[in-house]
Amino acid sequence: MKIKDLPKIDRPRERFLEKGPDALSKSELLAILIGSGIKGKNVKQLSEQIIRKFGDKFLDITVGDLLKIPGIGEAKALQIVSALALMRRFYEELGPKDNIVLSSQDAISLTSDIRDKKKEYLVCLYLNARNALLKKEIISIGILDKSIIHPREIFGPAVELRAADIVLLHNHPSGDVTPSKQDVEVVNKILEAGKIMGVNVVDFIIVSENNTHSFFAEIQSSNSKTTNYVSDGVQNSLFDLLETTEPIYTPEVKKIHKVYFYPENRVKVGRFQLQNRRFLGNKYKLLGFIEDIVNEKCNGFGVFCDIFAGTGVVGERFNEKNMKVIANDFLASNYFPLKAFLGISEIDFEEVEKKVELLNNLESRNDNYFSEFFGKTYFTLENARKIGAIREEIEKIAKNGNEKAVLITTLLYAVDKVANTVGHYDAYRKKLDTIQSLRLLIPDIDPENNTNNEIYKEDANQLIRKINCDVLYIDPPYNSRQYSDAYHLLENLASWEKPPVYGMAKKMDRTHIKSDYCLNSAPKAFADLSYNYN
Ligand SMILES: C[S@@+](CC[C@H](N)C(=O)[O-])C[C@H]1O[C@@H](n2cnc3c(N)ncnc32)[C@H](O)[C@@H]1O
Repeated sequence: MKIKDLPKIDRPRERFLEKGPDALSKSELLAILIGSGIKGKNVKQLSEQIIRKFGDKFLDITVGDLLKIPGIGEAKALQIVSALALMRRFYEELGPKDNIVLSSQDAISLTSDIRDKKKEYLVCLYLNARNALLKKEIISIGILDKSIIHPREIFGPAVELRAADIVLLHNHPSGDVTPSKQDVEVVNKILEAGKIMGVNVVDFIIVSENNTHSFFAEIQSSNSKTTNYVSDGVQNSLFDLLETTEPIYTPEVKKIHKVYFYPENRVKVGRFQLQNRRFLGNKYKLLGFIEDIVNEKCNGFGVFCDIFAGTGVVGERFNEKNMKVIANDFLASNYFPLKAFLGISEIDFEEVEKKVELLNNLESRNDNYFSEFFGKTYFTLENARKIGAIREEIEKIAKNGNEKAVLITTLLYAVDKVANTVGHYDAYRKKLDTIQSLRLLIPDIDPENNTNNEIYKEDANQLIRKINCDVLYIDPPYNSRQYSDAYHLLENLASWEKPPVYGMAKKMDRTHIKSDYCLNSAPKAFADLSYNYN
């Protein structure tokens, strides 16, 4: 069929004049540039062939490439390549520039890549209060179905980016842009979610290769607040809403008159308890207060999660027979004690006692990894040799993961008692006067309460996506001091990978255990954590 045999409205030039360049597909725009076809192939078919052949590489096309296509002579090849070079030149001179979205047409021109896709795409444009594009994100590919478009996928990035407005675009590969029943359902659901999240859903646009349908008018009329492409400048993210309008939770500041006593150590001879260690920011002395608050605010809960557990004293406080405690910390030096005290529901104490005795009596006259780096500084040489030898032996004698956790915990707690420090390992005391000999004790574990518990060594933000709990106790680090710096030595001993150590403080590489909560990214990490709490 020749181009003039096509109905007028389907001819590229006519469509351009009628509807503007954004209404045209890539091959139609190219058809205008090429001008005419060849015998047996009209200009539209010729351009479609070129677009298909070069796909993503179109911008890098050369005259030589084009000359290989029957029907493209030197003049046409030069025309196309020059147009591309001209466009590139202008873009280079302009430099990076904000994409401003002030109309459905602006949104459509930013997503022209989905118009001729054979699968269904849902794309979201995240805009700031100036309507500049913050991010374009493909939300889903495939069939529009409830299970693949969860509002979380759309609004998660909106919260992260503090987007003021969003515009959604979705293609209909069939070419028919009439909204389906499902489209209408999805739009309504997204509008509802947007209202709750305080994110303005400005438009939902259905596109096909040649047509578009915008829900802008419907969205406008369904909204009490005027939704517009031209924003009012108010950054309506969820967190701003919480800050600027009536808060959902009224912060309660009250003076506590009650005097809280923390339990005296119930030390049994030869045993140690979970709280018998020095740990920055541990909440042992606040347990009564925390328990009162939890009981006041939460009625009848069954799963308590201590997601930044540290020593685990808070989780332990709520650890009862019919309760499930989830305890997590991303440091191995915290994970092993958590596992030993809160994660083991069956234990052969006799076996543990035998092994602890064996470790206490271990010969340790020779230097080893631990004594080489930490002897005569953090520990006496004798203690350091013993610590290294015991840790090595644990690898050999622990018969399973539970036993290993118990024995490592035993060692970590004993080490803390003979360390020549003020409680953390950023430095050691100049004078090595901590001369007490290392002695391992038995952990005072109550396995009966641990039947339902789960213990993790994960980044809290990853774990939150996998667990369910009734009470989430969140106690992240609250300054720039990394726990992996303060406890590098215990972490080294717990993980026992014997890495090289550096500097006066003999710290290993800790890049893999840096917490976002000690960095500028803390608010973002916190928002992500609360957003993903189930
Ligand atoms: C303030 S302390 C918790 C103290 C604890 N409530 C107690 O009473 O012992 C914070 C803990 O969070 C852990 N942590 C920091 N960032 C983490 C992350 N992204 N995921 C999991 N744990 C993290 C640290 O290792 C540290 O033990």
